[in-house]
Amino acid sequence: MEKPAGLPTPVASHSEHELLRRKPRARRVFRLRSWCIILAVVGLFAYGNTFRDGYDAYTSQRHSKHAAQAATLARCRSLHETPGPPPGFHKREQSDRFVPGTKPVLLKNARIWTGADNGTEVVHGDILLENGLIKQVGHIGRSALAAFKDDLVTIDLKRAWVTPGIVDLHSHLGDASSPELDGASGDDNSLRGPILPWLRALDGLNTHDASYALSISGGVTTALVLPGSANAIGGQGFTIKLRKTPERSPSAMLLEPPFQINTSFLETSERPRWRQMKHACGENPSRVYGYTRMDTIWAFREAYNKAKQIKETQDDYCANALDGRWHAIEDTPYPEDLQWESLVDVLRGRVKVQVHCYETVDLDDIVRLTNEFQFPIAAFHHAHEAYLVPDVLKRAYGHPPAVAMFATNARYKREAYRGSEFAPRILAQHGLPVVMKSDHPVLDSRYLLYEAQQAYVYGLPENLAIAAVTSTPATIMGMDHRIGYVKEGWDADLVVWDSHPLALGATPKQVFIDGIPQLDEPHMVRKQGAFQETPAVPNFDKEAADAVRYEGLPPLAPRQATAGAVLFVNVGSVYQQTKEGVEEVYVAQDGEMGVALAVSGTLQCIGTRAACVDASVAEEAEIVDVQGGSIAPGLVTFGSSLGLEEISGEASTRDGYVYDPLLQKVPKVVGGDRTLVRAADGLQYGTRDALLAYRAGVTTAIVAPAHRRFYAGLSTSFSTGASHKLAEGAVVQEVNALHVSVRHFGAPSISTQIAALRHLLLVPGDGADGKLFRDVGEGKLTLVVDADSADVIATLILLKKEIEQQFGSTIKMTIAGGVEAHILARELAEADIGVVQVPSRPFPTVWERLRIMPGHPLSEQSSLEVLLAHNVTVGIGIEEAWSARNTRFDIGWAAIDAGGEISKAQAIAMGSTNVEKLLGGRVEAEEEAPRDMVVTAGGDILDFGSKVVAIVSSRRKVVDLL
Ligand SMILES: *[C@@H]1O[C@H](CO)[C@@H](O)[C@H](O)[C@H]1NC(C)=O
Ligand SMILES: *[C@@H]1O[C@H](CO)[C@@H](O)[C@H](O)[C@H]1NC(C)=O
Ligand SMILES: *[C@@H]1O[C@H](CO)[C@@H](O)[C@H](O)[C@H]1NC(C)=O
Repeated sequence: MEKPAGLPTPVASHSEHELLRRKPRARRVFRLRSWCIILAVVGLFAYGNTFRDGYDAYTSQRHSKHAAQAATLARCRSLHETPGPPPGFHKREQSDRFVPGTKPVLLKNARIWTGADNGTEVVHGDILLENGLIKQVGHIGRSALAAFKDDLVTIDLKRAWVTPGIVDLHSHLGDASSPELDGASGDDNSLRGPILPWLRALDGLNTHDASYALSISGGVTTALVLPGSANAIGGQGFTIKLRKTPERSPSAMLLEPPFQINTSFLETSERPRWRQMKHACGENPSRVYGYTRMDTIWAFREAYNKAKQIKETQDDYCANALDGRWHAIEDTPYPEDLQWESLVDVLRGRVKVQVHCYETVDLDDIVRLTNEFQFPIAAFHHAHEAYLVPDVLKRAYGHPPAVAMFATNARYKREAYRGSEFAPRILAQHGLPVVMKSDHPVLDSRYLLYEAQQAYVYGLPENLAIAAVTSTPATIMGMDHRIGYVKEGWDADLVVWDSHPLALGATPKQVFIDGIPQLDEPHMVRKQGAFQETPAVPNFDKEAADAVRYEGLPPLAPRQATAGAVLFVNVGSVYQQTKEGVEEVYVAQDGEMGVALAVSGTLQCIGTRAACVDASVAEEAEIVDVQGGSIAPGLVTFGSSLGLEEISGEASTRDGYVYDPLLQKVPKVVGGDRTLVRAADGLQYGTRDALLAYRAGVTTAIVAPAHRRFYAGLSTSFSTGASHKLAEGAVVQEVNALHVSVRHFGAPSISTQIAALRHLLLVPGDGADGKLFRDVGEGKLTLVVDADSADVIATLILLKKEIEQQFGSTIKMTIAGGVEAHILARELAEADIGVVQVPSRPFPTVWERLRIMPGHPLSEQSSLEVLLAHNVTVGIGIEEAWSARNTRFDIGWAAIDAGGEISKAQAIAMGSTNVEKLLGGRVEAEEEAPRDMVVTAGGDILDFGSKVVAIVSSRRKVVDLL
């Protein structure tokens, strides 16, 4: 990326300083000289110790006064210095982060995204790494290598794609560390006040966060670790490199830290380094401090006014000093305040201000603040409404900020409700710098590249999408002189990818940080053909325009629902449900595409045009050209509260939580302790997350009642495309399964939760609810236990046997969550217990999820593969409703990652029929069975390049044309 227009250029400010400097320096030389003469003369007459002592005191006093004045002058001059690399930085021969013993590396035959030319430059050639730096890029001849002896490591990349290391502009890695533990996490939000510019994220950086290695395995080399957003001013952020250091300390991880980490005030004559400051507005600080938006903005103004007063006192003081009016400031120390110095530095334009800010009102407030106090901001983060108000951003003081976003994570609170997947492309069209960020651990930064991929799918140009996680964030954090580019003299931070970086599932084959390879024995699959090319993506021009036109709430209903005949032509493949799961039942032969005919929402024929269509039908049918696309069973989502909430952060839009008899007294009127609440009774239709999921091929959702701890209730399944509960096919199955959770909540204990479950099953009790528990014991109703820990799962396997012996039955049990289930794959298979793994790409958020199987490049298999290899029935789920729409990419990714071990049909089953089966769904295998089918154009449902164009809904007896 270009530097945003309006950034102060170092050259101009330098020459201004030269003018300021000259006079005082001449005066100082004169004074020094006259003092020397006086001292020499007086010295001649200096006899006797007494006299001499008295005189020494006198001279040293003058000397120290002199030194103090010189120091003051130096400090005053330095106030006008802008941060950045020292002169001649790029002539460096060795990185300050070089680790002795690191061998030089020659990467041969790569396709390199250098970051140059607005991110468009791709160089086919070699890269030489030495002393922690990129020494050369391009064709590297023998002469350049002559100096190296045996220690040069040469790797033939065989045309693999290489990008700069991934840079995360917004992370809490190390501060909100994982797994979450009372002693080592939650060091990111201080609750000691709304304005805390003196706090430093560095002070909480846990070096044992499990995320470092995981994020590196996704290509992340650098992260800006920011304080949380509980405060209006949360404190100072720090840029770290993620690799292990020989010293093992947080300090050793820092990338070019500001000098202030070692000293209260800047006291060096070196050019200052960029500092980072976190701000937040809107809901988060309001929630924590019981504030209104008015209070928060006043808190900002009060703080900046204080900083401004200090700055003005300093400037007056320095004006006196620089003009030699020492008498005016005699006996007055330089005005400083340790608490406010960082905010004063903001006003001096020496801090990259990173502002968490979502809504139009908040963006507008902060832009006014920047103009009132005259400081630029580096980026608005999250900023889910920025794309609706680009002109507001352009009015920010100094230069327009960048916008650092999630790709599809939205609608989780009011501020995010109007978030759009088209925001990155729209902002880029307005010329605003676009950054994709993780907010780790909000999103697992291991998959930060996936955010860029999604932005690309929804229309951000290729060059800007790659830049959005490399050179753009590097520039926005003020580190583009050394990271974010593959360029001679830059830090040796690189990722070698196994595919084009924007292809779904792109995985590092190797990651270099400061020239040090980070992956010991990477496990890879071979990806050929289309994986190595720029992925094709659908056209979303209309959708993007609508997002703006409808201020973030474009209509999501299908454009047409028809009970009539629809003829899909140019069909490339068809997947259908069978007894075993899902099979590819049709594939176009020799490039000759097929057709599919749907009438009244039912597929009547699939095959050649001649076989399927007679003339009369062809005449009246609506024709849809799917351009080689595909037809597949509708996907099924589970794990979030989709269908029981609209905005998860807003209680008034949610169904709410059920009573938990292990924690509280259940009111009698509800029916007592064993009452099984039915999720079906709380269903909400037409939520935006449900409609977006529907438009992405997720036609069914299964949801259990929202619960706090152990006790949940009865799940239900419903059609995501239905408009209300009484509509045809809206409820797919009133009761699916009985759900409980066995987790490490603290209290009551795991063993108590197991005791409760045992008791409920062995002593099912009377009445309708008692019958349901008995049904579980007798194997008539599926029991779904939410659990992740392998130890808990092992206990559940034993409990299942115990109950089965009692009832002489076979219990239907499913583990939901199950990220440690792979450890017991064989035992689960033997016990005939299936797993709905939530999420599909696991992360050790908490201790009971510590033993994840991370998949490529860290392990040979993913946990999904391990389970499948043992013939465990496996489905995948999600944690939050916004991500239901991404199910098709989740399963596509799982298939790609398994390199052929998981077929496309198996992947579709993992995201549809298996989920249903495991969650007590009545899954019929007959062709007539009502099952929604999804029609995609331009590729199959697992592809980035495809777009869902129709849903053939036999349940609802219509074809929805999207
Ligand atoms: C950078 O690339 C984007 C997208 O390809 C383009 O719209 C923009 O004009 C380019 N900017 C410059 C300065 O070339
Ligand atoms: C801080 O002090 C340490 C130890 O003296 C030194 O290695 C480091 O370079 C200093 N860092 C800065 C930014 O001044
Ligand atoms: C899984 O099932 C297949 C086919 O039924 C069988 O060949 C294979 O041995 C089974 N694997 C295990 C680990 O039981």
